[in-house]
Amino acid sequence: MPITILIGAQWGDEGKGRVVDWLASSADIVARYAGGDNAGHTVALNESVYKLHLVPSGILHSHVVSVMGNGMVINPVNLVTEIMSLRKLGLDITPERLVISSRAHIITPAHIALDKAAETALGDSKIGTTLRGIGPAYLDKTGRAGIRTGDMLLDVEEFAERLIAAVETANETLARQGMESLDPRSAVESYLDAAAVLKPFIKDTSVYLHAALRAGKQVVCEGAQGTLLDIDHGSYPFVTSSSPTAGGALTGLGVGPLFVEKVLGVAKAFSTRVGGGPMPTELNGQIAQQLRGSGANFWDEFGTTTGRPRRCGWLDVVMLRYAVSVNGFSEMMLTKMDILSGLSELKLAVAYEIDGRRYEYPPVTNELLERAKPIYETLPGWQEDISNCHAFSQLPAAAQNYIERVASLCDVPINSVSVGPERDQLVMRHTA
Ligand code: IMP
Repeated sequence: MPITILIGAQWGDEGKGRVVDWLASSADIVARYAGGDNAGHTVALNESVYKLHLVPSGILHSHVVSVMGNGMVINPVNLVTEIMSLRKLGLDITPERLVISSRAHIITPAHIALDKAAETALGDSKIGTTLRGIGPAYLDKTGRAGIRTGDMLLDVEEFAERLIAAVETANETLARQGMESLDPRSAVESYLDAAAVLKPFIKDTSVYLHAALRAGKQVVCEGAQGTLLDIDHGSYPFVTSSSPTAGGALTGLGVGPLFVEKVLGVAKAFSTRVGGGPMPTELNGQIAQQLRGSGANFWDEFGTTTGRPRRCGWLDVVMLRYAVSVNGFSEMMLTKMDILSGLSELKLAVAYEIDGRRYEYPPVTNELLERAKPIYETLPGWQEDISNCHAFSQLPAAAQNYIERVASLCDVPINSVSVGPERDQLVMRHTA
């Protein structure tokens, strides 16, 4: 069966971009199904570093068609900027290579202003959003008041009127909150230019994908964010507003479940989180600094979209186990294993203790989760640089042991790990 769904198993930033890039080499289509330019996927290739926020990572392969699904929220101006900058790097981006759903929702300038206003109003309890307008755009979608990408195909004045009306409505809310209002006409001007550029790319992607699947094409569904940021399954309200889990791939693309062959969970070998919300295994001090890096390298733990330093901690198997259950992973992959080199010992949170009770899965309320004390299992570390390893047998015994222990605690096979940012820095259990 032709679909592989790729899912972030943690709080996003698991290194999914490079995994999609790897899967894309044997795929026909790479399709993104949720989120917007809150995502940041980084792929290193031939000494260039590609930072993608909206365009699927498959675009780096000339034989692949990239699809932006109906489950996404798209800022047309930022998409055009991204397309232009990828073209400058030599990528050929045409309507034959990039197909945008006519049913995705548009992030307007109003959404961005409202995101900022909502975060300001929350003060110390803020979510820590990326301020890209994601939440307000999904709010309009579910409130049946959104503007869709297909509306860019309308007469330009009609599209402008819809955008202006959205800005005027948002202005009322902004005024109530004492925030500066937007000038409707000038706020939407750049959107009209962007719509003119994007028109030829817009299609019914569900129909397009169905035909491709029936013809036996291989499709990789590219998840953004991660399971623990899911609107239903994450640590609500410290979540994003979409469904970056396996079910979200189907609704976010309009494809049927019987085409799915594999659900690949991508987890970083340790935990990171950006923004607010509980993180039971969070570390401070020297180990956290080693995991985070200095910020000098693009793979260090600083947000691709916002530049914020990420919170770092030991691998939380309680959360991973939960991600396995929410998504039904057929297999997992561990990324950034090389960053653990040099630590004398490594810890895995195998359960939580909360108020004297043992939890194998995360509790539902943040109040309980804030009180969770991780129950750690300590494993030996390794000192060797593993960034040139290509086979499991080349990894130090302690690294192999770490992988096997995580797989066994989650009851899911781990057949691949990444040991560096470059395309070929992958270790496979079975080499073809
Ligand atoms: P929003 O998606 O901008 O509304 O942000 C909601 C929460 O999700 C915040 O905690 C963000 O830091 C987090 N978030 C959103 N996108 C990403 C991502 O791509 N990686 C990691 N965290 C993200």
